Order: sequence, then structure tokens, then C-alpha cells
Amino acid sequence: MRKFLSYTFVLSSICILYNACQHDILTVNSNVSLDPVVVVNPPTTTTPTGGTPAPVSDTVCFNTDVLPLYVSYCGSAGCHDAGSHRESVITTDYGHIMNGIKAKNANSSKYYTIIGNGMPPRSSSQMTATHIALIKKWIDQGALNTQCTNVCDTNSFTYANAIQTIISTNCGGCHGSKPGSANIYLGDYASAKTYITANTSTFLNAINYVSSIAVSKRMPPSAKLVDCKITQIQKWIQKGYPQ
Ligand code: HEC
Repeated sequence: MRKFLSYTFVLSSICILYNACQHDILTVNSNVSLDPVVVVNPPTTTTPTGGTPAPVSDTVCFNTDVLPLYVSYCGSAGCHDAGSHRESVITTDYGHIMNGIKAKNANSSKYYTIIGNGMPPRSSSQMTATHIALIKKWIDQGALNTQCTNVCDTNSFTYANAIQTIISTNCGGCHGSKPGSANIYLGDYASAKTYITANTSTFLNAINYVSSIAVSKRMPPSAKLVDCKITQIQKWIQKGYPQ
């Protein structure tokens, strides 16, 4: 047992050391699926004091840019979530999404070509051209399971610069066309501001995944927003919803 523990310790130290010295793209084995998880260091726009601005990574982040689109616009309950899996299609995790994606070949990727051509159904919120272009770019870059954490500049929190994109990417499929899931419509500046002003704590509890609320009320449903996006939203609210 002791031997085993020290062996495990040595192994994990190696892993930690190995991870700690990576500065670019790091491939680790996911323990949930056999698909490679690629951890990307934060694309950054902040200027280090006294230095030149760090280059902004061009990598499309699967977890923050692509997955939320598939979850929000295709994977709501009753459609392509794990529970409903209409037509056996599930779009709420990397492994299932890859069933319809061919890396570097958007035109042969069914889950790309169908967007705007039948899916989402006409009565539902539609992805924007920007959303679709981002998915294409992700496929062109190899459709990797890129996981990014610190993807935003928290000094930027106006509606136009940050909040509109966060909401349309992560909430738009369900709350982006009227009446919206649970009758909550967040599809434009005025509507989002009005709803959040009247329901500030419900809203903040939902995006912060507070443990006291039912799991079904945590938003977005599939996975919590990355912290820096929550910070941007909170600042936007605190500073009086700058446009
Ligand atoms: C896949 C669909 C879907 C997505 C994506 C989604 N929502 Fe929701 N949202 C729902 C549904 C369904 C409910 C009603 C849940 C319930 O009452 O159990 C809801 C309820 C809510 C509520 C009310 C929670 C409460 O306690 O009553 C808020 C606030 C909310 N959503 C905000 C958001 C925000 C903000 C986002 C994006 C960051 C988002 N939602 C993304 C489907 C979605």
C-alpha cells in the first residue's frame, strides 16, 4: 500500500511538474472519454506592465465558444439533449458532437451543414452568421476539444463589447426568441436589462450555480459559465448596465 502510495505520489508529481512547465498547448488524457482534451492557455489582450501586449490566441475554445452554441441552440430539453436525443442526436458534449463533425472538413460535417438548413427548427432561435463562422473556424482548426479558462478581459463589460456575445452564445437558443424558456427573453439590451433589474438575485443565483437552488434553475443548464464571464456580467449589472 505504501509503495503504491509513493508510486502514485511520484506519478502525480511528474504530472504536475510536466503541466506546470507547459506554456503553449498541452494535451492530456481526459478521464471521461478517449478524446484528447487540449488545454489552451488564455488568449489574452491585457498588456503586461511595461511590456508589449501578449499575442491573442487565435484558437477557438471548444468549451467557451462552440459547446455553448450546440447546447443552447440544439441541445435544449425535448431536442438534442442526452434525455431526449431526438433522431439519436445529442449535442451537449464533445464526444457526441463529434459524431457529426469531420475535422478540417466543414462541408462534410453534418452538424455544421445543417445549421440554418433545417436546424434549429424555424420556430426556434437561429444562430447568427458570427456563431456559424466560429464553428467553421473551430472545424478548420481540427475540431479539437480545446478547453480554455481565462478567456476574457474583465475590464471590458459593456453590452456591446462583452455581454451581448455572452448572452447570445450561452443563453440565446433558449432565451433569445420570444417568449423564451420559462418566459424569460434576454434577446436584446432592453429586455435583458428589464428582466435582470426585476429579478437580480434569481439571475445571479442562476449563473453562479448557487447550491441552494434546484439544479434545473442553474444557468446555462449544461455547464457553468467560466468565472471571468460571470465577473463581466456582474460588473455590467453593478455599473448600471452600460451599453
Ligand atoms: C438549453 C436551454 C437553456 C439555456 C441555454 C439557458 N436557459 Fe435559462 N432557463 C431554461 C429553462 C428551461 C428554464 C426554466 C427552468 C426551471 O424553471 O426549472 C430557465 C430558467 C432561467 C432563469 C430563471 C431561474 C429561476 O430560478 O427561476 C434564469 C434567470 C435563466 N434561465 C437565465 C439564463 C441565462 C442567463 C442563460 C445563459 C447564461 C440561460 N438561462 C441559458 C433554459 C435555458
